[in-house]
Amino acid sequence: MAQPTSPIPATMRAAVLTGLGGPELLRPADLPVPVPGAGEVLIRVHAAGVNAIDWATRIGQGVGIGVFPAVLGWDLSGTVAALGPGATRFAVGDQVFGMPRFPRLAGAYAQYAVAPEGELAQLPAGLEHNAAAGAPMVTLTAWESLVDHAQLTSGQRVLVSGAAGGVGHVAVQLAKALGAEVIGTASAANHEFLRELGADQVVDYGSGRVADAVKDVDVVLDPRGGADFAELAQVLRPGGIIVTLKGQQAGYQELLAARGVRGGYTYVSPNGAALGEIATLLGDGSLRIAVERVFPLAQAAEAHRTGERGHVRGRLILDTE
Ligand SMILES: NC(=O)c1ccc[n+]([C@@H]2O[C@H](COP(=O)([O-])OP(=O)(O)OC[C@H]3O[C@@H](n4cnc5c(N)ncnc54)[C@H](OP(=O)(O)O)[C@@H]3O)[C@@H](O)[C@H]2O)c1
Repeated sequence: MAQPTSPIPATMRAAVLTGLGGPELLRPADLPVPVPGAGEVLIRVHAAGVNAIDWATRIGQGVGIGVFPAVLGWDLSGTVAALGPGATRFAVGDQVFGMPRFPRLAGAYAQYAVAPEGELAQLPAGLEHNAAAGAPMVTLTAWESLVDHAQLTSGQRVLVSGAAGGVGHVAVQLAKALGAEVIGTASAANHEFLRELGADQVVDYGSGRVADAVKDVDVVLDPRGGADFAELAQVLRPGGIIVTLKGQQAGYQELLAARGVRGGYTYVSPNGAALGEIATLLGDGSLRIAVERVFPLAQAAEAHRTGERGHVRGRLILDTE
């Protein structure tokens, strides 16, 4: 539903990255409010999601940054504040969310951002901006992995590795919504969380090999690659598929061929059509986003430090109010 909007100021608060390196290089700054181009909208950002690709990009191992200072962040939720030339899909005041432009910079760690209208979806009624801002990247990743690559169907068995994390906690719910039997790996402190999400079996990845505890799986979601990929491929039944989020590496194809299983690689994109379907699941409660912690925009560095420790349950969010 459209909300009243305030006059657009000339400048905005943002968290800028001043160079490649540690989280201390993320600093509060004032920047000009961007102007929407053709087919774009200006969004008053209420909340921005913090993702693993954000801190990978910050240290030079993610998306390339041409010019500093740069504004990180892709996941956003907010209110349409102005329309660029030819933009007709939304009205000023509409509530929207999305992961625009990825893998080009989108500047979500700011009070305003511009985005192509086709890469956004209407916020489902009742969904709060913090939860919506945590949704796009992890839901689109889980969707591409389980729906597009694995073509998961009812009754299949799925192993979700890192199931308490951003991608994992969504993948567990999406797989359940598709009628699958779900096995999730997490440290023991997160097992109850996984059961609440609907996992049928939980495995502590820290107390022995996952491949010794799980067998005869149709689909594996592997967020970590490397040694994990080699181990997790062993839980597949012949003809099964392992979808990795870490790209192809030397030896993967030979390993899969030797076991008679298939591989897939997800590289998430701002898929407006899939985001619309995800919005329906978020709206009807089939999918919920667990928000571990909300940081003020000025504490973006602390949000990165927390994420980089590698044990977030669900999502970290920046409050850009
Ligand atoms: N290719 C793509 O398109 C794409 C898209 C999105 C994400 N990714 C990548 O996918 C990975 C996961 O993303 P995310 O957003 O889910 O990250 P995240 O939220 O930071 O993941 C945190 C989770 O990782 C789990 N974990 C830590 N060590 C583990 C281990 N040894 N084995 C299994 N789980 C472990 C933790 O579980 P416990 O706390 O229970 O220990 C925690 O719940 C990242 O590397 C990210 O870059 C790729």
